[in-house]
Amino acid sequence: MRTMIPSSIHFNVAFTLSCLLFSLLSGMSSAQLSATFYSKSCPNALSIIKSAVKSAVQSEARMGASLLRLHFHDCFVNGCDASILLDDTTNFTGEQTARPNNKSIRGLNVIDNIKAQLEKSCPGIVSCADVVAVAARDSVVALGGPSWNVLLGRRDSTTASLSAANNNIPGPNFTLSQLKSSFSNQGFSEREMVALSGGHTIGKARCTTFRSRIYNDNNINAAFAKSLQANCPQSGGDNNVASLDTSPTSFDNVYFKDLQNQKGLLHSDQELFNGGSTDSVVNSYSSNPSTFSADFANAMLKMSNLNPLTGTSGQIRKNCGKTN
Ligand code: HEM
Ligand SMILES: *[C@@H]1O[C@H](CO)[C@@H](O)[C@H](O)[C@H]1NC(C)=O
Ligand SMILES: *[C@@H]1O[C@H](CO)[C@@H](O)[C@H](O)[C@H]1NC(C)=O
Ligand SMILES: *[C@@H]1O[C@H](CO)[C@@H](O)[C@H](O)[C@H]1NC(C)=O
Repeated sequence: MRTMIPSSIHFNVAFTLSCLLFSLLSGMSSAQLSATFYSKSCPNALSIIKSAVKSAVQSEARMGASLLRLHFHDCFVNGCDASILLDDTTNFTGEQTARPNNKSIRGLNVIDNIKAQLEKSCPGIVSCADVVAVAARDSVVALGGPSWNVLLGRRDSTTASLSAANNNIPGPNFTLSQLKSSFSNQGFSEREMVALSGGHTIGKARCTTFRSRIYNDNNINAAFAKSLQANCPQSGGDNNVASLDTSPTSFDNVYFKDLQNQKGLLHSDQELFNGGSTDSVVNSYSSNPSTFSADFANAMLKMSNLNPLTGTSGQIRKNCGKTN
């Protein structure tokens, strides 16, 4: 019996040490996303997502813009963890009614449809957060923009944060300095912020988000303002939409040319070219589309990697709208 005591202590010490080593190693590897994460467990995952996005964008080009924005609004709120997809219930309030998302985010049905196909093919394997990240990339590609290799292995949150969604997602009335601090809080430089803002080369915005710009701002092309006022009156018509740039279904660099012509739709857009420190970046993206493409792709990859849940954190939701 006595000899058992030291040996069990010995065993415990060895066991504890190997647990420590194991959790260290798995902690290290779980912190890493990887391009080949599903290559054995769900080899068709990427092609399923790509063809569903392609067909959604074919039936409505704007859907590509909506899916890109969904990823941005997911990642800026405690990381890319699909928190934005959790629907409100009687005892749970998520992010969908936050000011930037309320009556504004689109594409949840496309994500749900992709997820349903994935659950048929490989049940319980592919996270909703990865679906959103890949769908954003495929959307940009479908509208003629650059591609990048999305790293995979994100897991889905079991929570969401209304207050973080209200606090972390920049608003259309932001000044340059507010925009800079919003993006630097997520680790982005000014240049990366301008590149990411080039996401507004596709899609639309509601009157309520640009009304004050077209009636009150001075740094707006007069004819442009007037043309927008027709469909966005001083009062009423809150949900009428206008294009974010003059080629809203092409992922190109026209957004930056529009800014140079004082034709930014949102107050926040025009802040990027209003005599401040980001003017030079706008000029450079306007005259050099391939620089914009490369910077956008790199910044998207960085945004996609914000604070993912990996390893055993979170879960793989069966239904993106609710926790398991
Ligand atoms: C720089 C700070 C940003 C501000 C203040 C901002 C604000 C807005 C606003 C107010 C809208 C219109 C929403 C509505 O009418 O319901 C919008 C639309 C959009 N945003 Fe942003 N955004 C910003 C950055 C970004 C970034 C970084 C991306 C992606 C990389 C992005 C992608 C989009 C897209 C694609 C749309 C159009 C969505 C659609 O047509 O459904 N935005 N944004
Ligand atoms: C909401 O309440 C129901 C009933 O008490 C419970 O079963 C469910 O888990 C709760 N949902 C959440 C998201 O907390
Ligand atoms: C969301 O939008 C609806 C319709 O515009 C509005 O009635 C509601 O108050 C908004 N909710 C929040 C939380 O802002
Ligand atoms: C922007 O709008 C929000 C919400 O309407 C408001 O709280 C905030 O003060 C405004 N910010 C600026 C810079 O006007």
